[in-house]
Amino acid sequence: CSQPLIDAFDRRISYLRLSVTDRCDLRCAYCMPEAMQFLPKKYVLSLEEMHKLGLAFIDRGITRIRLTGGEPLVRRDVMDLVRALGHRLGAGLEELTLTTNGTQLEKFAPELYAAGVRRVNVSLDTLDARLFAQLSRRDRLAQVLRGIAAASEAGLQVKINTVALKGLNEAELPEIVRWAHGEGHDMTLIEVMPLGETDTERVDHYLPLPAVRERLEQQFSLHDIADRTGGPARYVRVEQSGGRLGFITPLTNNFCASCNRIRVTATGQLFACLGGSEQVDLRAALRSDSPDGKLAAALDEAMRIKPERHHFEIGDGALPTLARHMSVTGG
Ligand code: GTP
Ligand code: 5AD
Ligand code: SF4
Repeated sequence: CSQPLIDAFDRRISYLRLSVTDRCDLRCAYCMPEAMQFLPKKYVLSLEEMHKLGLAFIDRGITRIRLTGGEPLVRRDVMDLVRALGHRLGAGLEELTLTTNGTQLEKFAPELYAAGVRRVNVSLDTLDARLFAQLSRRDRLAQVLRGIAAASEAGLQVKINTVALKGLNEAELPEIVRWAHGEGHDMTLIEVMPLGETDTERVDHYLPLPAVRERLEQQFSLHDIADRTGGPARYVRVEQSGGRLGFITPLTNNFCASCNRIRVTATGQLFACLGGSEQVDLRAALRSDSPDGKLAAALDEAMRIKPERHHFEIGDGALPTLARHMSVTGG
């Protein structure tokens, strides 16, 4: 690569999360309000622009790209981008993945595999159809479960992402672990983060994962294992199921020291950190009269401003909710 991306804290950035749309066909209560205002199309990068960005990042040593959203698979013609980036697999790019809510997977799983995708992370907070409809405000559990099955059938490795929610899916968590591992999927539990205004009080449902882990340990033996993806999750092996279980604990445990990632929104804003406001406008660079030079300078700037750590806090309101929704930054 031409010049690797290394930030002011000597962290090598090799992982890009690229949000392809802020739109979504679900309305998870902890993520968006029902009347979520989506961005006007003119602000959103075209798929060609996203491809161009992807190539520029690969040239600077990004080896893994994860497409996110919103829901990436609701963007029209998104497979054109997946296929285009897929051409760089084995040629700079080592992995191309997706984080999806699963509603469109039944249709897209075979095409994703054919484009070179080998893993997908699927968000699923409950196996109970009524609770699913309550949490996501849409009655789509069966569709999501068919999508997950189709992904496995197509040869995609599936990781189930479950946000732990006090008083909602709390009691069901061991069952979800058993189900996911029984189906051959990895699973990750996530603490709810204060991102963007929603209609509900997220803090009421905040469930610290150390407490969840203690309760799981009454039923399962958990053995710490090494991190495989360099991501924020800490993994254990569940002895009884043989499956892998991750814990993403942004609020109770800080994993920023080894951060290897940056994120780009659907409008081409590079956010140096999920929990910070430091940003660089890649859309302006892309649409300028010298896109290559401006992009290179913008990426250098991003490395200068990437903060040492995020500053989320939940509970006594020490810090205000971050104005940005997860669906904008792409997680
Ligand atoms: P892999 O490690 O590649 O499997 O992906 P991942 O688990 O990081 O990705 P995924 O999209 O499944 O994200 C799971 C959860 O982790 C989401 O809620 C993300 O918002 C959260 N997450 C991902 N990256 C970060 C990060 O850098 N900081 C924080 N605080 N949370 C993150
Ligand atoms: N806190 C924690 N996780 C969230 N997600 C969306 N919004 C939040 C939030 N405020 C999760 C989704 C998905 C992942 C990409 O992010 O459930 O699994
Ligand atoms: Fe959509 Fe994911 Fe947000 Fe749920 S959490 S509304 S599936 S973007």
